[in-house]
Amino acid sequence: MTPSPSAHLPLGDQRTGRFYGHDILSVSQFSRDDLEYIFGVAEAMRTMVQHVGTIDLLKGKILANLFYEPSTRTQSSFMAAMQRLGGSVIPISEVRYSSVSKGESLPDTVRTLECYADVIVLRHPELGAAAQAAAAARKPIINAGDGPGEHPTQALLDLFTIVEELGHVDGLTVTMLGDLKFGRTVHSLSRLLSLFDVTLNFVSPAQLTMPEKVTAELSRRAVKYSEHTRLDAVLPQTDVLYVTRVQKERFEDLALYESLKHAFVITPDTLKAAKPKMALMHPLPRVGEIATEVDADPRAAYFRQMEYGLFVRMALLAMVLGKA
Ligand code: NCD
Repeated sequence: MTPSPSAHLPLGDQRTGRFYGHDILSVSQFSRDDLEYIFGVAEAMRTMVQHVGTIDLLKGKILANLFYEPSTRTQSSFMAAMQRLGGSVIPISEVRYSSVSKGESLPDTVRTLECYADVIVLRHPELGAAAQAAAAARKPIINAGDGPGEHPTQALLDLFTIVEELGHVDGLTVTMLGDLKFGRTVHSLSRLLSLFDVTLNFVSPAQLTMPEKVTAELSRRAVKYSEHTRLDAVLPQTDVLYVTRVQKERFEDLALYESLKHAFVITPDTLKAAKPKMALMHPLPRVGEIATEVDADPRAAYFRQMEYGLFVRMALLAMVLGKA
């Protein structure tokens, strides 16, 4: 999609809603005002789902869900979002059964799908893949994760979760824990949080610290952040504890992965030092970083977080298709 989507609109077209025809590639494209707007639409979607389940807002529209990497939540929540809005989905999650296995390039695959669909959701193992797809496409591309790069729709649903769970964002201390090097969700979330007056703590093994590119951006925006190798130093002040999985698929050295994969494990005992009102979040899947005994703790927000994701993705689809 080109940066001036209005150029594609017929003269006099009234569908001038925010993000109509836009790609969603990075959280850097959002202002605080945009976030308020998106969350307002997401709230309306939540009420709608809870009261009627499905509406016809996107009837006749088609989403192509193009996943080159495994996914459970992102893929199925985008499908559910489109279907709850009355639209339909072309799911391509087994790219090995598509022409990709014959060597088709990403731009050609995207140009093909946009002949049939109105919007494309793309997950790809390479950093920058969503931007590359967007450069080739006329229809909106939504980045559902580009390798270790960004995962903007996850960051939006993460922020929506924080607002729903704690009521506000300014003034909060957010601690991100785990694989901050390869975890794209924390790259996007920390960039998005830089729009707010927050304190960020980054806790990770020394080998998995937040990339310089992200911390340099935070410094430029005068965000208060600090880096740690131990959780106990920052847990008592934390309002949001955002735990991530060590990203096995991004390691060249699997022995290193094995030595780091359980560097941090949250147990009921860990939470004894935490605030009584704290949101414990995780983008999921978890592979041992949060013990299942923690699930019953009211602070465990990760299952609710998945549900909030449905409402946020419904809002985004409605917006890029000019219906919200
Ligand atoms: C995350 C991802 O794909 O980056 N999953 C998700 O979309 N909820 C996190 C992860 O895989 O660890």
